[in-house]
Amino acid sequence: MKFTTASFKKAKESGEKITMLTAYDYSTAKLMDEAGIDAILVGDSLGMVMLGYENTLPVTVEDMIHHGAAVSRGAENAMVVVDMPFMSYQTSVYDAVVSAGRIIKEGRADAVKLEGGVKYKEHIRAIVDAQIPVMAHIGMTPQSVNAFGGFKVQGKSIEQAKQLIADAKAVEEAGAFAVTLECVPADLAAYITSILSIPTIGIGAGNACDGQVLVYQDMLAMYSDFTPKFVKHFGNVGEEMKKSFKAYIDEVKNKLFPAEEHTFKIDKEVLEQCKL
Ligand code: KIV
Repeated sequence: MKFTTASFKKAKESGEKITMLTAYDYSTAKLMDEAGIDAILVGDSLGMVMLGYENTLPVTVEDMIHHGAAVSRGAENAMVVVDMPFMSYQTSVYDAVVSAGRIIKEGRADAVKLEGGVKYKEHIRAIVDAQIPVMAHIGMTPQSVNAFGGFKVQGKSIEQAKQLIADAKAVEEAGAFAVTLECVPADLAAYITSILSIPTIGIGAGNACDGQVLVYQDMLAMYSDFTPKFVKHFGNVGEEMKKSFKAYIDEVKNKLFPAEEHTFKIDKEVLEQCKL
């Protein structure tokens, strides 16, 4: 059964936790879908973990469409949410609707996600009015890394905490179906979760959120450039991949691969007749 915005609402009401992971390609999305994940986020984190940029700012709408479409083809049941990249919505409400429309039409997304609260209320409302579901993202919003002066926990002071609460209420009022809380103190995230009717999806925001999301390369120990405090390694796939690559190199160098069972045969007579 396809997970939808209605499933998000139902999960909030029943208290069942929502599971979400990022993916950026067909094969990974298919594996997650088969494992039973509720939703897949094609995050603009792809700029860092897939494309090797130092932050998410260089990512384009075309990048999101390319990876979004691949993930959609692999996700039969999981809901696919695709990030709106930096400068695809900040410039105007009109640009926000056009970019979201392209991500849905060309990127085959079920919903879009954008960073920001009170400041982007009108943008969210306009996209929702165009019948496109929006997940909001507040707290430590990576597209504001330069404005924040680094990747920092948000909401620790009274002023910041009040702003976060206002942001959460604003995106709910604008019609977002869910909101991601990134790098927010657990007690504040719990309070925000308790006052919203839409689900909160936490990343570095404690256990009281209605669901959780992680970048899959982080949870599988495949990305070592930067590991935030909130990351748990659920497997050591990075090490396993390196071991497998080394085994391949070794077998090719030592003429052990390909073996008999990996090769195709030709009738000896046929070969003899075509030799020069
Ligand atoms: O881009 C991304 O992967 C995200 C998650 C960190 C929530 O926005």
